[in-house]
Amino acid sequence: MTERHEENLVSMDEDRRSKERKFRPVLHALTANPGAEMVRYARGKSDIITLGQGEGDAPTPDFICDAAAEALKEGRTFYGPVLGLDELRQKLSEYYARIYDLDLPSSRFFVTPSGTTAMHLSLAALVDKGDEVVAVTPIWKNLLGAVELTQASINQVALDYVDDQWQLDLDKLFAAVTERTKVLLIVTPSNPTGWTARADELQAILDFARKRGIWVLSDEVYGRIIYDGVRAPSFLDIAHEDDLLLVVNSFSKSWAMTGWRMGWIVGSREAEDKIRDVALYNNLCTPTFPQYGAMAALEGGEEFLAHQLDLWRSNRDIVVERFKAMGNVHMSYPASTFYAFFKVDGEDDCIAFTKRLIDEAGVLLSPGSAFGREAKGYIRLCFAVSEARLVEALDRIEAVITS
Ligand SMILES: Cc1ncc(COP(=O)(O)O)c(C=O)c1O
Repeated sequence: MTERHEENLVSMDEDRRSKERKFRPVLHALTANPGAEMVRYARGKSDIITLGQGEGDAPTPDFICDAAAEALKEGRTFYGPVLGLDELRQKLSEYYARIYDLDLPSSRFFVTPSGTTAMHLSLAALVDKGDEVVAVTPIWKNLLGAVELTQASINQVALDYVDDQWQLDLDKLFAAVTERTKVLLIVTPSNPTGWTARADELQAILDFARKRGIWVLSDEVYGRIIYDGVRAPSFLDIAHEDDLLLVVNSFSKSWAMTGWRMGWIVGSREAEDKIRDVALYNNLCTPTFPQYGAMAALEGGEEFLAHQLDLWRSNRDIVVERFKAMGNVHMSYPASTFYAFFKVDGEDDCIAFTKRLIDEAGVLLSPGSAFGREAKGYIRLCFAVSEARLVEALDRIEAVITS
């Protein structure tokens, strides 16, 4: 390499670094997202079975698509109210009365463009640089990323894995709360572990948060993906309307609507104005015509959901049986969500193992390190696909694991 060439390379490098510095420093500080990295690693490779992302392979049912298409044809293509159409907020209130047996006025429902955005809006309303969020992990990486963008710090409290069960040690959680803690972030049922808070645990957490004057931010996106009962216990079962509580939810998982980007928040009366302010400057409103599809999902989506749950229940049992038979795979029995979160003896480097499964098995899964510090070594498999596809993936995984 000539001296001149070297000089050019150095100056190109400096130029790139100086351009990078023009972005907010928080973007340089974002932690890696190994799940997204694996998706990129698998892209372009042929014959890959994708069980690495949190969605099934069934398209949105026709009756939901038709409602949105009709709204589109009728010209529902204008801006709507910041917190959602009144009819949709009313339908959410009726849905909670029917499914959760809760009497919540429509003014407590804030429609958002996705559960992810619901989380960003909630965090933007609650935390600043210097605040701390205590998060129960393993947790979906994007939620940690959402906190990182606010510049609040994150204190991760891991569930314990005892006798093939994920458990929350409440004392450990409460001991992690400091003077700077503003929010307890809890995902129940949990992606990726399937751990689901019991009613008494929710009560203890809410009591503690009340005593300390801190927020509970509860992600209940998988609240309906439960194999015993109609829905998981919710903080809303026990909260008063003036509690410091925001509950994030989504249309994505229950009604095969991941590409629609539709979610909601349930909050207190005071939260309505604050979330409206944040949403106004963030997204102005949720797209209008898809909200008609969302209404159809709430009103007529139970049969579709029940059908999906039948498939996923049977898929779950297939995964559990197959992994048990392999002898060197360990996982808890997921009573909710559509994930198997497992560990293979001798495979401690989950990123290397995930890459190997892509290369040798043609199966894309998600490495545990994508779900927080303590989840390293685990792998997440989404079983919300057709049985045939799942069985083919398990055959391929088994060939690698037992080779
Ligand atoms: C715990 C959790 N919350 C939120 C979301 C995102 O939901 P949405 O598709 O509505 O953005 C996911 C998606 O995987 C999730 O696992």
